[in-house]
Amino acid sequence: MRLGVNIDHIATLRSQRGTPYPDPVDAVPIVELAGADGITCHIRIDRRHITERDVRLIREITKTSLNVELCSDPDIVRFVCGVKPRYACLVPEREGEQTTEGGLDIVTHGEEIKRTIGVLKDAGIVVSLFVEPDESTIGLARELGADSVELNTRAYSETSNKEGEIERLKKASIAAHGMGLEVHAGHGLEYHNVKGILSVPHIVELNIGHSIISRAVFTGLEEAVKTMLRLMKGG
Ligand code: PXP
Repeated sequence: MRLGVNIDHIATLRSQRGTPYPDPVDAVPIVELAGADGITCHIRIDRRHITERDVRLIREITKTSLNVELCSDPDIVRFVCGVKPRYACLVPEREGEQTTEGGLDIVTHGEEIKRTIGVLKDAGIVVSLFVEPDESTIGLARELGADSVELNTRAYSETSNKEGEIERLKKASIAAHGMGLEVHAGHGLEYHNVKGILSVPHIVELNIGHSIISRAVFTGLEEAVKTMLRLMKGG
């Protein structure tokens, strides 16, 4: 199972004071040396943490692979196509949200999402859709032309009924895999709940940010990434 480390929250700390530090670009070689399989960052309409400058430089120095999270805003889509990360993950975005609040509403925004997938794929980018773990949504994601789905693990992370959410994730993952989609997962995963995800079949990638960057404050980034990788291997 691959680990993509989301480095947004280094930029959150920078934005909090409007200083040039800490620079998310500096995190890339440390995360990669620690053994992570990829770098993830999220460019938002308000550019409140990750900026265009960050994405360009991160793209330039990333030796593993870069996954950029974005919504269907035409300016952002155009920018991401120009940067050409290997992967893009489409997410919904609501003005003022603290973090991504849920999976894409493919029923309401299907046409827009389909158009965005087409534009990103024409630029040579592999496209994932961030979705709730339910079969009908995954079927729609497949119809729209996505290469993979990232299952939202927020409900799993927040609920006390972990078994129920794991069952949902298992069904969704089996369905997605059966449709030929690569299965990723993420949101709210941390050092104590990541083990449960290992029982979900077919997941080939986790994207984890907040918990790793938070732990890094105390242990350093390299150790924080290494410990997560160890847990993902069942250690
Ligand atoms: N995957 C997606 C699509 C996200 O939007 C986020 C949050 O930016 C993550 C994964 C990582 O979530 P967390 O920071 O809670 O690990």
